[in-house]
Amino acid sequence: MDEKSRHTYSSANEPEIALHRKAPHHLPTNPYIAFKAVHFIKTAMNYQNILTQQKQGIFSITINRPEKLNALNKATLAELHQALHQALTDAQTGAILITGAGDKAFVAGADIKELAALQATEAKAFAKKNQDEVFNLIADAQKPVLAAVNGYALGGGLELAMACHFRFASDNAKMGLPELTLGIIPGYGGTQRLPALVGKAKALEIILSARQVDAVEALAIGLINRIVPAADLIAEAEAFLQQVLKQPASAISAAIKAVNATYSVNNGYDIEIEQFARCFASEDFKEGTQAFLEKRKPNFSKYN
Ligand code: COA
Repeated sequence: MDEKSRHTYSSANEPEIALHRKAPHHLPTNPYIAFKAVHFIKTAMNYQNILTQQKQGIFSITINRPEKLNALNKATLAELHQALHQALTDAQTGAILITGAGDKAFVAGADIKELAALQATEAKAFAKKNQDEVFNLIADAQKPVLAAVNGYALGGGLELAMACHFRFASDNAKMGLPELTLGIIPGYGGTQRLPALVGKAKALEIILSARQVDAVEALAIGLINRIVPAADLIAEAEAFLQQVLKQPASAISAAIKAVNATYSVNNGYDIEIEQFARCFASEDFKEGTQAFLEKRKPNFSKYN
């Protein structure tokens, strides 16, 4: 097979594309690069909550709400869906990298203020839509997707990272599924993907205790692929993806499909959505979310 037919995309003579509202620490701030993008991008998206960049076959998505620790509100999830679709259909893109803006958080979860306003029926539709449009779209993507976990990855943030094919974490990363502290359970695939990665016993321990796991433990239990010093995280993630992109695109896609097949044999995701929605009818959900928003400890009902 010649070099040209090995890839559906080519990085040769490819423009560096910068579409961001404001540059985070790892993206180029060179005005010349931004100027070039105006010429090369015909369908530039005007995102408000994410930053996107395409460089040498890698499409980077940076979730950009650092003042809310990059929490996933509806608008951000809609933009993530759009950007993923853009990356997956872009012939110049071979791999996708997802990270968070700032040095504190990858994503600190679903936006609790929005969750607090949901009724049980809305919660069911909400979880289903987001699982389909973002989390499963990533997991089933035929291009490799890597999460560069640059700080807190909690709740929906860890679920986002777990939906990706690879997780590289900075040495200051903290991961966990603290949904039970809000009176709910993970609703974006966390109850399915965490046991697939770390085994049932560890997954139940992490979900039921709601504790945070640091990068060293996460590596030891198989939750992440690699720990990288924070300053090198994006460069190391990009270098790894370039190594993957030396393989033929058709075989990368076939390998992802085959590996994923093991994890799609039950209806656990549907059961998670049912149980997630049920929680929204409970008093504990109201108390848990209100307590977070009022910055106080929740007063939950016990044993009934
Ligand atoms: N949804 C909405 N807002 C969030 C958020 C979330 N998941 N996580 C953090 N924020 C907001 C905070 O409300 C705060 O906003 P404010 O400045 O307007 O009050 C801001 O982000 C900074 O967070 P803060 O809690 O002050 O930072 P911290 O360093 O003291 O604590 C965390 C960091 C991650 C431990 C804490 O923010 C947290 O527990 N977040 C929620 C995690 C969670 O339960 N996620 C699962 C949701 S399903």
